[in-house]
Amino acid sequence: MKITIIAGARPNFMKIAPIISAIKMSADKGNNISYRLVHTGQHYDQKLSGSFFDELNIPKPDVNLEVGSGSHAQQTAQIMIEFEKDLMENPCDYVLVVGDVNSTMACAIVAKKLHTKVIHVEAGLRSFDLTMPEEINRMVTDAITDLFFTTSKGAGINLEKAGINPDCIFHVGNTMIDTLINNLDRLRKPAINSQYSLDQEEYWIMTLHRPSNVDEAQKLLELLNLISKNANDKPIIFPVHPRTANTLNSMGVLPDNIIITDPMPYLEFMYLVNSSAAVITDSGGIQEETTFLKIPCITLRENTERPETVEIGSNVLCGFDPELMKKAFEQLNSGNWKSGTVPDLWDGKTAERIVEVILDYSD
Ligand code: UD1
Repeated sequence: MKITIIAGARPNFMKIAPIISAIKMSADKGNNISYRLVHTGQHYDQKLSGSFFDELNIPKPDVNLEVGSGSHAQQTAQIMIEFEKDLMENPCDYVLVVGDVNSTMACAIVAKKLHTKVIHVEAGLRSFDLTMPEEINRMVTDAITDLFFTTSKGAGINLEKAGINPDCIFHVGNTMIDTLINNLDRLRKPAINSQYSLDQEEYWIMTLHRPSNVDEAQKLLELLNLISKNANDKPIIFPVHPRTANTLNSMGVLPDNIIITDPMPYLEFMYLVNSSAAVITDSGGIQEETTFLKIPCITLRENTERPETVEIGSNVLCGFDPELMKKAFEQLNSGNWKSGTVPDLWDGKTAERIVEVILDYSD
């Protein structure tokens, strides 16, 4: 059985790494399964792409479609044009897509129109917020997927409500957490720790890249000032995505305790998260990683497609509401953060379960 695996943007890479390992292990045991890795080139910088392949020992892609950046329509269309050619030249039994980026949706559409079955890993997540491009990507992908792998029971319920046959939905856990577990003892202290004398649990780490948070300079500055004032003089490490960097470049001086860095390699970033007092973010995946690590997480979004991180994990949603943020910061600074528990099946064995299901399903 031939599976073409799609990866395009930063959050995809840690999700595909354990799936590739599990396919190789299964093939080594004599099962008839192989993969081909397609990188769409949605992310192309070493810091957003290459470093993840190097650190997570992901094999070099069989092809890089090199689509690069563009508007949503341009990028999606370019991925579809290039992937259609590639899939016609290299037919397979399944196209496996992960997550919710433009590459996920574009390649799922191409596959389905060429009558190739689609597997979606991380299916069924819903923020119910159609202003998020990722929500559109999730809905479209799930509408044409054949085999659904979910990180939570709630995601399966979302799919059933959308009319998906429950026999095609498999709650298997979280491949991003597989990667975290596999690399916990390889996490690497970044140079920034000694440069700024960062003490364990005496700093915050922040990531912001959603257009709604970072595209307007005035809004971003107000947000940074508010966060800075509430940090009780703690340093706030802020690895900056290229989109955010564009806005920061046009802004004046930033608060003193905010330390800007380039996007960080996975092993260094997760080291910083794991040793931090708290994380402030608008990312999806970081809500899950902090829940697994039981690190307090303040999410600057009004909704989340990962509600279990709030319901049972260590995550709190503050939207863009200064009062909610202040309340969360007070709770954090007084040491009264909820402890949280880890969702079911986030145990490091998700990719193995995925491969077992695929083999059973195609018998
Ligand atoms: C994409 C995903 C988002 C994910 C994020 C993680 C979609 C719709 N969005 O958003 O879900 O959370 O990745 O980073 O797929 N750029 C570079 N170097 C690169 C790639 C991009 O400088 O290697 C710059 C370009 O100016 C580009 C901008 O970043 O226009 C945005 O990149 P894009 O891939 O369109 O979306 P992200 O904001 O990264």
